[in-house]
Amino acid sequence: MKYRVGVAQFQPNLFEVDENLNKMNQLLKGIKADLVVFPELATSGYVFGSKEEVRSVAEDAYTGKTALLFSRLAKANNCSYVVGFVELNDDKLYNSSMLINPDGKIFVYRKTHLFYEEKLFFEPGNSGFNVFEAKDGVKVGLMICFDWIFPEAARTLALKGAQIITHSANLVLPWCQQAMITRSLENRIFSITSNRTGEEINGDKKQFFTGMSQILTTKGEIIHRMNQTEESIYITEIDPTLADDKTITEYNDAFGDRRLDFYK
Ligand code: ACM
Repeated sequence: MKYRVGVAQFQPNLFEVDENLNKMNQLLKGIKADLVVFPELATSGYVFGSKEEVRSVAEDAYTGKTALLFSRLAKANNCSYVVGFVELNDDKLYNSSMLINPDGKIFVYRKTHLFYEEKLFFEPGNSGFNVFEAKDGVKVGLMICFDWIFPEAARTLALKGAQIITHSANLVLPWCQQAMITRSLENRIFSITSNRTGEEINGDKKQFFTGMSQILTTKGEIIHRMNQTEESIYITEIDPTLADDKTITEYNDAFGDRRLDFYK
């Protein structure tokens, strides 16, 4: 199966939802793909100082500005998109990402493992790890940023049949891009880490984001890794069905050889 996947990297501006949506729309001009992944909190920026600030950029997953723009783009471009945004649901704030398909379906993942001061502003995600069908039935598992340091996240998605892990991120620690090589390899899945770039300052708070967004094969090979600062979308063609084969040698299977009795 031939499937064109893309990773987007850019610098969102804090609190500027309209501007950020416009920037993503511009980046997508002329892009032909089946699935494109955008960073964590791509619509809002990251360095929040209060819950009120977070609330000011929060949206409903199905009726908000992000859903409206990307539903239109998904249909017009016949492409699935994954986008990180601030979700307001039942008066609670979540660090979420949505998968939007050309047929108009929207699926939501709420970040399970909150990082650092996110714990002050967001509810821990309650969606669990679910695998959704993107365009052409390709099985996609959504993770967000710090989920990477918990191998259970990628493993759960892989055990549920994910062929591609979409990993929207705002990375500030230096280890993730290398660690994702192991996540892809040990689970025999493709992974797309879409990270943001730039520095963000809000009062006395400041974060620097590491870029280096990447697409990895089921063997942990780097198909492409961006530099720290570029703002672009990189597209490559993969065969997602390769992720259905967990064979390592003729005697070994990454999932079949698991010794569940010893993992308790
Ligand atoms: C992170 O989870 N945004 C570091």
